[in-house]
Amino acid sequence: MQGQIRTLALAAAISLSISLKAQFKASAEEGKKLYEANNCGSCHALDRKVVGPALRGVTDRRSEEWLIKWIRNNEAFRKSGDADANALYKEYGGAAMNIYENLSPNQVKHILEYIKTAPKPAPKAPVVSTDGEAVKADSNALYILIALIGIFIIVLIILGKVRNTLRRLAAEQDGTAGDEVKVSFIKGLLPEKLAKMNPTVLIVFTVVILGGIGFAWSYKFGITEVGVQKGYAPKQPIAFSHKLHAGEMKLDCKYCHIGVEESKSATIPSINICMNCHKGVQKASTAEGDGISPEIAKIYKALDYNPDAKNAAEAFGTDPKPIRWVRIHNLPDHAYFNHSQHVKVAGLACQTCHGPVEKMEVVQQWSSLQMGWCIDCHRNAGIDAANNNYYAALHEKAAKDLKNNKNKSQYFGPDGKVKITPAMNGGLECAKCHY
Ligand code: HEC
Ligand code: HEC
Ligand code: HEC
Ligand code: HEC
Ligand code: HEC
Ligand code: HEC
Repeated sequence: MQGQIRTLALAAAISLSISLKAQFKASAEEGKKLYEANNCGSCHALDRKVVGPALRGVTDRRSEEWLIKWIRNNEAFRKSGDADANALYKEYGGAAMNIYENLSPNQVKHILEYIKTAPKPAPKAPVVSTDGEAVKADSNALYILIALIGIFIIVLIILGKVRNTLRRLAAEQDGTAGDEVKVSFIKGLLPEKLAKMNPTVLIVFTVVILGGIGFAWSYKFGITEVGVQKGYAPKQPIAFSHKLHAGEMKLDCKYCHIGVEESKSATIPSINICMNCHKGVQKASTAEGDGISPEIAKIYKALDYNPDAKNAAEAFGTDPKPIRWVRIHNLPDHAYFNHSQHVKVAGLACQTCHGPVEKMEVVQQWSSLQMGWCIDCHRNAGIDAANNNYYAALHEKAAKDLKNNKNKSQYFGPDGKVKITPAMNGGLECAKCHY
């Protein structure tokens, strides 16, 4: 009897703890949603100081009651005279956090549960520059080819020797040893018929065959490989990370590449844009000590900025030295490419052409940028011809053709749906892309 009660009690306790766990989990999931919906992440990260403090461990630093008051209305909380709240505000130089009275105390608890239980990120993989990797792969193939040719020659020589020996043995047996046995070394390597040929004809013959193979190979190489810098990821003068800024901090690409919607060029940001944040952020939050990070110091040097100056007027010196970023993407001068046409008009995401830049520690060229690559997409991309004045004429013509059953098949994609491509609008005309 007692045993049974004990088992029952145990079962109850277990199921209670399971349901509690499930509840905490649901709470954390709810909290994650709220955290994201309220954009806490635009100023906070869990493990790193951004605009506000790193939030992991905050539930150990502060009481729940304190946190609820702070998060819902930090301004009122500070005015109420709370010493910790005012000290924190001062520590962050008066950068004010938003007010979130839309969040109920219970919802704030969900957020705190999320902060408490969010998994720690895996340790960062070491930063490896992919500088020159593509080139290395190519030369590896070349080394293998050279090695194979070497082995081939050695095998030929051995075979030739064996053959000469056999001939000599055969000749000795026949008793016909004499002039004929002294075959020259080269001739000894060749099949009998070739060996009997006129040497000049033989040389011409060989040169033509080898030359032909070489030409075919270099032709193919020239067409598909020359000038292709896919994978090119040079080391930049400042170790600027897109993975951190565009990925983890979720900065919009256009925040820095300001030309991308209006002009041909996306533009590399002026270093002043960096200063919007790096006047304040002088080192990575994970760095030890209080010194300025050497990478950030390069930003200051470029602007001749003195972070320790007493006032703003004295902070900027007179000897700025612009950063020379290494250009990665580079079409030849005779080709014309326009960003606004592709980003604004066609609505293409940067990643279609540049790959997952927000995951790249060091930017690399993702696409080949060859003519075939441009043409391929112009043949296959769908454009929204119906809602764009630029395509009015084309759209009218297509609508008419479809109605009259004329040239109908060209307007359908492989999935059987109507599809208008840039190619139909002259996107394959040489003059559109060549000056
Ligand atoms: C506009 C930027 C901004 C946003 C958005 C923001 N915070 Fe803050 N937060 C700050 C700053 C800055 C501080 C440091 C105190 C100060 O200067 O006001 C801070 C402080 C905090 C603290 C106290 C940390 C500590 O170490 O004591 C918590 C907790 C916090 N924020 C949670 C949140 C949550 C949760 C959200 C979303 C609902 C949020 N914050 C949204 C800027 C922001
Ligand atoms: C904080 C500013 C900033 C943000 C945000 C940013 N970039 Fe950049 N980007 C730079 C700087 C600085 C360079 C030059 C140094 C380098 O190549 O890393 C650059 C270089 C590039 C290049 C290579 C340019 C070349 O030389 O050919 C591409 C492509 C690029 N960014 C795409 C993106 C995309 C896509 C995003 C959004 C996902 C983005 N960037 C967000 C600052 C930024
Ligand atoms: C919106 C704010 C913001 C902008 C704009 C910005 N950064 Fe940063 N950057 C940060 C923050 C925050 C960190 C620190 C992240 C951390 O704590 O690890 C950082 C870190 C860095 C680091 C790493 C420092 C180190 O010691 O590891 C470098 C280098 C850097 N930024 C360069 C740049 C450059 C160059 C630009 C301009 C093209 C730029 N940043 C623009 C916010 C910004
Ligand atoms: C249709 C393909 C395509 C799309 C979409 C695209 N790019 Fe580009 N991008 C290119 C090509 C091609 C070049 C090389 C241009 C040249 O050398 O003239 C380039 C060059 C760049 C450069 C360096 C040279 C410059 O123009 O300043 C940056 C930075 C850049 N792109 C950023 C972006 C960003 C940010 C986006 C998204 C907002 C984007 N690109 C969208 C194809 C594309
Ligand atoms: C990922 C697909 C894609 C790639 C890659 C691409 N384009 Fe385009 N391109 C488009 C689309 C879609 C349009 C139609 C834009 C619009 O709606 O006007 C377009 C339009 C154009 C136009 C304007 C044509 C017109 O009708 O006026 C030019 C010029 C052009 N692209 C050049 C290039 C060049 C040069 C390259 C290669 C370096 C390239 N594009 C790569 C998708 C692409
Ligand atoms: C959609 C854009 C586009 C169109 C249309 C286009 N080209 Fe190109 N072309 C390029 C780009 C980009 C390059 C440079 C990249 C390369 O060398 O592959 C190029 C390179 C070339 C080259 C130089 C190749 C080399 O090795 O340097 C020749 C020649 C050329 N194009 C001829 C033409 C002719 C002829 C037409 C019309 C039938 C044409 N192109 C149409 C984009 C285009």
